Amino acid sequence: MSVVGQSVPRKDGPAKVAGAAKYVDDITFPGMLHGRTIRATIPCGRISGIRLDFDTTGFTIVDHRDIPGHNSVVSVRDDQPCLVEREVRHSGEAILLLAHPDREKLLGAKVQIDYEPATPLFDPQLSTTDHKRILIEKGDLTKGFAKADLVVEGEYRTGHQEHVYIETNGFIAVPEGGGVTVHGSLQCPYYVHEALTRLLGMPNDKVRVVQTEPGGGFGGKEEYPSMIAGHAALLALKAGRPVKIVYDRAEDMWATTKRHPSIVRHRTGVMKDGRIVAMEVDVLLDGGAYVTLSPVVLSRGCIHAAGPYRCPNVRIEGRAVFTNTNPNGAFRGFGAPQTQFAVEVHMDRIAERLGMDAVRLREINALRPGDTSATGQTMRNDCSALMVLKEAVKRSGYRRKRRAWQGTNRGIGLALFYHGCGFTGSGETRLASKCSLATTEHGGLILVASTEIGQGTRTMHAQIVAETLGIAYELVDVAVPDTAIVPDSGPTVASRTCMVVGRRLERCAKEMREQLGGLQPAEHFRKHGPMLITKQYEPPPGIVWDDTTCRGDAYATYSWACDVAEVELDPVTYEVKTKRMTVVHEFGRPIHPVMARGQIEGGTAQGVGFAVLEHVVMKDGAMANAQLTNYTIPTTLATPRMDVVMLENPYPHGPFGAKGVGELPMDGPAPAIVNAVRHIGLDLREVPAIPEKVMEAAAARGSAA
Ligand code: MOS
Repeated sequence: MSVVGQSVPRKDGPAKVAGAAKYVDDITFPGMLHGRTIRATIPCGRISGIRLDFDTTGFTIVDHRDIPGHNSVVSVRDDQPCLVEREVRHSGEAILLLAHPDREKLLGAKVQIDYEPATPLFDPQLSTTDHKRILIEKGDLTKGFAKADLVVEGEYRTGHQEHVYIETNGFIAVPEGGGVTVHGSLQCPYYVHEALTRLLGMPNDKVRVVQTEPGGGFGGKEEYPSMIAGHAALLALKAGRPVKIVYDRAEDMWATTKRHPSIVRHRTGVMKDGRIVAMEVDVLLDGGAYVTLSPVVLSRGCIHAAGPYRCPNVRIEGRAVFTNTNPNGAFRGFGAPQTQFAVEVHMDRIAERLGMDAVRLREINALRPGDTSATGQTMRNDCSALMVLKEAVKRSGYRRKRRAWQGTNRGIGLALFYHGCGFTGSGETRLASKCSLATTEHGGLILVASTEIGQGTRTMHAQIVAETLGIAYELVDVAVPDTAIVPDSGPTVASRTCMVVGRRLERCAKEMREQLGGLQPAEHFRKHGPMLITKQYEPPPGIVWDDTTCRGDAYATYSWACDVAEVELDPVTYEVKTKRMTVVHEFGRPIHPVMARGQIEGGTAQGVGFAVLEHVVMKDGAMANAQLTNYTIPTTLATPRMDVVMLENPYPHGPFGAKGVGELPMDGPAPAIVNAVRHIGLDLREVPAIPEKVMEAAAARGSAA
């Protein structure tokens, strides 16, 4: 192969390096106004009055009465209003919108909102309102526990996490042709498109969504863009002029989604020889004030909750519940980092109780081809759990360091994990996403709604197409995701952009090549006019999934990984310093090795932040540290040295054998790091492992000794 598997120059590289790439805040339109959102400052209550304490001349003011269509942000359920009517359910909820040509005047406008406050609910354990409940059952749990030599129980917790994309959320709405066009930072053009048609009561062809160059997403631009695009559109339609809304960092952190905090309980029956015979898992996610994507996050979390292990008797029960806090949403990993944190720390605790090596325990129980998962999915040859485990243990010197560091302030720990690629079960079939490929004067043009969010979509898709067409990579262009031009290829989420969308593009290119009859695409275009090929998703053979019973093939395939973390505990500050990570991933085959490695390194760093640094402090139901001075993410100083290994086990239904690698790296660092801290002798079961928590664990050890 001449293009796939080569680290070719990025399609978006030159413009970004030269500073020519246009982010939403770089763009202006003639007569453009700036927009601002007035938000609730209480977590729960009713609005009793709104006073505008400023000269309103020249202002455009929008409230819920200005919504021409349906006052909701379309998602799994339509419970979330675009603008509050009376009832406030979380701090930061949008109530009123203002626009003005002069940004200073806009920011100076004072709005007084009076409330009748009600008692808020912050503790998910006290919540009786479920956004979603999920039950996965396999075998006979009672029989399993009856047979077990030992039962190990534990509770594990993870906190909120903020995405900290470099570019905050932003949109510009432009009234056009009796409808509206929005330009903004987003992952899913067609999600925004559907949300706007419902909100504005407009037909599909009156709403157009165009992606501007985005500075990162990580799941954080999966659902919130439907909200901010709606706000910009409402202002623009009322003003009859373009309106730009760009959040500053504090507003973005205060008002937008975070990772769901979790409390996961495990009760596990094991035999003396290490075989796991019963697993009972209880998953609780704090969903926040509205449903948004919680049902889907819970589903992915629960499906991954038993870890990459075989066990005949399993019961996983999950709930995502209401609280008076910001709705939590999509974040790289989508529930799996939370549940795999729990199961992987629990596995180390089982090993401790059995007096067994943690690697040996995993070797005994790891899924192999022919085994079934908790949902009853039979693993095939694309199951690589043992392969990644063995390689990570060998490369890192895990066993030697484990012995040598006993009784010191250095620790080594590991996590074995996996991640389902693409939408769950029948999700891809229901989505029925489409991709197109066209000939142009220049060569081939890719038409997909998949967005470049820094992860390399354009480059990777162009590689797949160039390789399949047998033409130079430079001759393949990628259209801007614009709903007026590209078909609905589905959202840019769920580790599906390469495996699912890339596969469709490969099919388009294959058919195009046959129809070109030996001509170059540009030659064919000049001789015969444009050629457009569109392909719709087709599931790989033998995938059966039942959404109601959660039985069957949860995902078409999985990617597999093992992380080994080496940490040092500062005896004075109780900081956990991650010194080195050995990161072994199997995701079929990398299309672009340098970018794939970038995904792994970036995801691992984000996992290190989740593990030891990133602490969202909630006060009265809102993020109290909504700034980067005290919500800290890893800089180069906190990012460990990484030994990244990409093992190959080509997947026959992915393009050139590729699976997904976007989310996988996020799942492993937190449990590996906490297991390394456990190696030092501290009974830690929670992230973020900030110094205060580590100190508590150290004090508990002191008093136990
Ligand atoms: Mo996502 S967390 O962008 O699937």
